[in-house]
Amino acid sequence: MLLRIPGVLTKEQVAYCRQILAAADWIDGRVTAGSGSAKVKKNTQLPEESAAAIELGDLILTALESNALFVSAALPSRVFPPLFNRYDVGDGFGAHVDNAIRQGLDAEARIRTDLSCTLFFSDPEEYDGGELSIDDTYGSHTVRLPAGDMVLYPSTSLHAVTPVRRGTRLASFFWLQSMVRDDGERTLLFDLDRSIQALSVDHPGHASVVPLTGVYHNLLRRWAEL
Ligand code: NI
Repeated sequence: MLLRIPGVLTKEQVAYCRQILAAADWIDGRVTAGSGSAKVKKNTQLPEESAAAIELGDLILTALESNALFVSAALPSRVFPPLFNRYDVGDGFGAHVDNAIRQGLDAEARIRTDLSCTLFFSDPEEYDGGELSIDDTYGSHTVRLPAGDMVLYPSTSLHAVTPVRRGTRLASFFWLQSMVRDDGERTLLFDLDRSIQALSVDHPGHASVVPLTGVYHNLLRRWAEL
């Protein structure tokens, strides 16, 4: 499932993050790339352990905890601390698949990457190029979202960031391990949840809401790993 999650951060939060990002020290982005993807990666990143990355990462994770669309779609079990990247003119990241396992700074912070997230800090009119291009069975999708919006996509996807031709593209990227590992099962749960929510709004008190909610939880019970 490829999903846009609008307004993860407010305009004020984006402006605050941009101030911190503007003053931060950036390093070569190949530090978090595997040996294969390092060959096609050209950008800069905040060091994982920097105060700026930790502060802004916490701000993002706090916002996501109360984002109903994100929680329903991702069913997060463990979220990797958000990282931050910057693509200036000429920077890009060729086609690659993200590493299956991510080891955080803390020895116990190891996750299986089920879903990849990119949260945009630059508005599309601030740069040319820099499209996140994600392949699925319907072909290639290009994503350039307003600042504060996020895209969620399966970490199994081949993806790339096309070269930036003008301006600067700032974003946060991170991965999560879902309680439901299988993308098909997770998507079914998401569709069911959204349908139950819509039914509850369109027909308040409808007799089918309770049994359908039961089906949702019984499927989640069957498929979830904690
Ligand atoms: Ni990637």
